[in-house]
Amino acid sequence: MTELIPWPRSVAAGSGGEVRLTAHSRLYADTATEGVGHWLRTVLRQATGLPLREARELDDTDGDGIGLQIGPGLGPEEYRLVSDGDGVLVQGGGAAGVFWGAQTLRQLLGPDACRRAPIDRDRRWAVPHVTIEDGPRFRWRGLLLDVARHFMPKEGVLRYLDLMAAHKLNVLHFHLTDDQGWRIEIRRYPRLTGIGSWRSRTKFGHRASPLWDEKPHGGFYTQDDIREIVAYAAERHITVVPEIDVPGHSQAAIAAYPELGNTDVIDTTALSVWDTWGINPNVLAPTDNTLRFYEGVLEEVLDLFPADAAEFSAFVHVGGDECPKDQWRRSPAAQARMKELGLADEDELQAWFVSHFDKWLTARGRRLVGWDEILQGGLAEGAAVSSWRGYAGGIAAARAGHDVVMCPEQQVYLDHRQDGGPDEPVPIGYVRTLEDVYRFEPVPPELTPREAARVLGTQANVWTEVMEDQARVDYQTFPRLAAFAEVAWSALPGSSERDFADFERRMEAHYGRLDALGVAYRPPRGPRPWQQRPGVLGRPVDGPPPRR
Ligand code: ACM
Repeated sequence: MTELIPWPRSVAAGSGGEVRLTAHSRLYADTATEGVGHWLRTVLRQATGLPLREARELDDTDGDGIGLQIGPGLGPEEYRLVSDGDGVLVQGGGAAGVFWGAQTLRQLLGPDACRRAPIDRDRRWAVPHVTIEDGPRFRWRGLLLDVARHFMPKEGVLRYLDLMAAHKLNVLHFHLTDDQGWRIEIRRYPRLTGIGSWRSRTKFGHRASPLWDEKPHGGFYTQDDIREIVAYAAERHITVVPEIDVPGHSQAAIAAYPELGNTDVIDTTALSVWDTWGINPNVLAPTDNTLRFYEGVLEEVLDLFPADAAEFSAFVHVGGDECPKDQWRRSPAAQARMKELGLADEDELQAWFVSHFDKWLTARGRRLVGWDEILQGGLAEGAAVSSWRGYAGGIAAARAGHDVVMCPEQQVYLDHRQDGGPDEPVPIGYVRTLEDVYRFEPVPPELTPREAARVLGTQANVWTEVMEDQARVDYQTFPRLAAFAEVAWSALPGSSERDFADFERRMEAHYGRLDALGVAYRPPRGPRPWQQRPGVLGRPVDGPPPRR
């Protein structure tokens, strides 16, 4: 019972008794929480084999059942879970709060409650008497999945949505396009996926590695797949924020439609989907044709990712990171465009490009979010910033009155290695251990309370250059995502006073949950033999990461 992750705001032990769930136990959900009731009944039926028949009234849950309802005095994501002689009652300020409470309830039943079928039909299922009051510290608790560098099939994405929900994370930042692949069907531009969704071979390891995986790699989500992913996420109170990266990270799009590139600088018809890693010089041309093309893409994206009641559903991420300006410097057309627009330099040209889409999205009732490079050359009005190159971009944006998601690469890039040992597979970047992630503080101390209120929350980013399949993604993401979830959800004390020993103690139970969920995490003592990649070159960076 005291092994919950993320740790709630308050936990008060009850009388020492417990609510036993049996074949007679019923589940009641009020009208507003029917979806949560459906989810909870489904997962608990699978794990326990108990029918958990529907109760028409809360009173029918009668001492050994579960009640779900909207309760008074709670914020939309807050919940109160009371297990006592009357049964288990989960009340939330909104259905989302009840859903997070239902996740806590599953944890209270023990690791086997995370399985898909009962392993022992005779086992006792019981919820200890307890009162839990809980709610999140941050509204944006995100995970970025890079499905562009290595494609994750739809089933894998749905699985990650379940894993996010189990950790009370509520935003999937879906990195759908990059130099190495275009992963979303756009009906009016079929070549984006026809050509842009696959490559004939792939660099194996860091870009300096001599190794290649000499087989085709690719895949994309059809529009129906995307609708399914968005709906599945919504059932779990998760918002999917799509990322369509412009004007850099666009070689797959240019390979499909060569006129999108700087055709007066290079022969863009000779480009293919990129098969290696790094920052790519082949960026979009700042032409009207490019703007119209991406407006067409975004029209379909807006349709697939509707803005609804969920707080962050209006956001569309347009990337904006790592756009080398060399081709624009050499392009007579780009230079003419700058002159015509009265722009001083190529940074301003990038700002103009991003601000075009900011206005375009705003006019459609949506909001732009981009990487912190969008601050260069002037931040578009209304835009929010994903602060990745450290805290500085987020600080500047918050001070200028913009919303911020803190995801500094030095702290929460989960592609970075989690140990300094020689067995770490394809080691990239700084050593960021489970404890390092646990001590990450999303709000920098120099922000005033008013500026700090601009920090919507935080996000862990999973870039997949060296994660060729789901098992590699699991290895890099877990167990660190559990520590990150506690940072994002729980109101922890200052980063140095955080009780990592208590977190580690609770992790013992949590590894059992991850095992039951089939997560190929990094064991505390290091990688299993098949999790290692001997001889595959990484790029470890020595020493502690700079704070900013
Ligand atoms: C990024 O890591 N280039 C956002």
